[in-house]
Amino acid sequence: MTVEPVAFSDDLASVFQKPVVPRHLAVIMDGNGRWARTRGLPRVEGHQAGAQTVRRVTEACCELGIEFLTVYAFSTENWKRPKEEVSALFGLLEHFLNQELPSLQSNNVRLQAIGRLHELPSNAQRALQETIRQTETNTGLTLILALNYSGRAELEDAIREICKSVANKRLQPGEFTQEHLRQHLYTSQWPDPDLLIRTSGEMRLSNFLLWQLSYTELYVTPKLWPDFTKLDLLEAIEEFQRRQRRYGGI
Ligand code: FPP
Repeated sequence: MTVEPVAFSDDLASVFQKPVVPRHLAVIMDGNGRWARTRGLPRVEGHQAGAQTVRRVTEACCELGIEFLTVYAFSTENWKRPKEEVSALFGLLEHFLNQELPSLQSNNVRLQAIGRLHELPSNAQRALQETIRQTETNTGLTLILALNYSGRAELEDAIREICKSVANKRLQPGEFTQEHLRQHLYTSQWPDPDLLIRTSGEMRLSNFLLWQLSYTELYVTPKLWPDFTKLDLLEAIEEFQRRQRRYGGI
């Protein structure tokens, strides 16, 4: 991954002059299959093109000074896809991790992952753990891959842990607060996303970061994920900068 200058038009240059780039950007990367279908290609080629977009958006986030980027790469529901597609997706993940390691290092990117990672194919787990280990002292962007992830599974895992604390009397039910729940989420060490981008025009959360998105600004673009460019990212951020975040206040 080489760092190319971001191509942006004059009016979008204002994005860089304002202090409020989102600290944490979350992305539902949708539309790989449709992108392939419109070109008469197998779906896996849509995912390959989608992986290139992950690289482009990661670079752009580094340039913009975004601190956290969480991308929804595989949901707990995606196992329902044909076996060949699931296996191609994990092959692609391994390839991506191996190929991108030098550029993650040179861009000072720290890789992290959330989800039921112990259920991933063992090769993918190994590649993931190795990349996480090799990038753990990097101090720039934290790129968080959501893999075998869903918001409901995350809440189920968190609540199970809290039930254990209650059962062994480390926590009294009356002492329980939402802060206990927050601390048991996979994302406990990071701030909630400021901006969620969903590509391909679908207006739903699809079980992504259900707790964390409570006050996140939502941005849906009709662009399919493989077609999503740095300029599209800048447009989303410019729209974010026009929003007034009130967190329930006035
Ligand atoms: C949704 O598009 C996309 C996915 C379920 C997988 C996302 C995977 C990638 C972007 C590539 C690999 C990722 C990394 C991090 C290397 P879809 O297949 O549901 O598209 P459709 O709705 O048009 O069928």
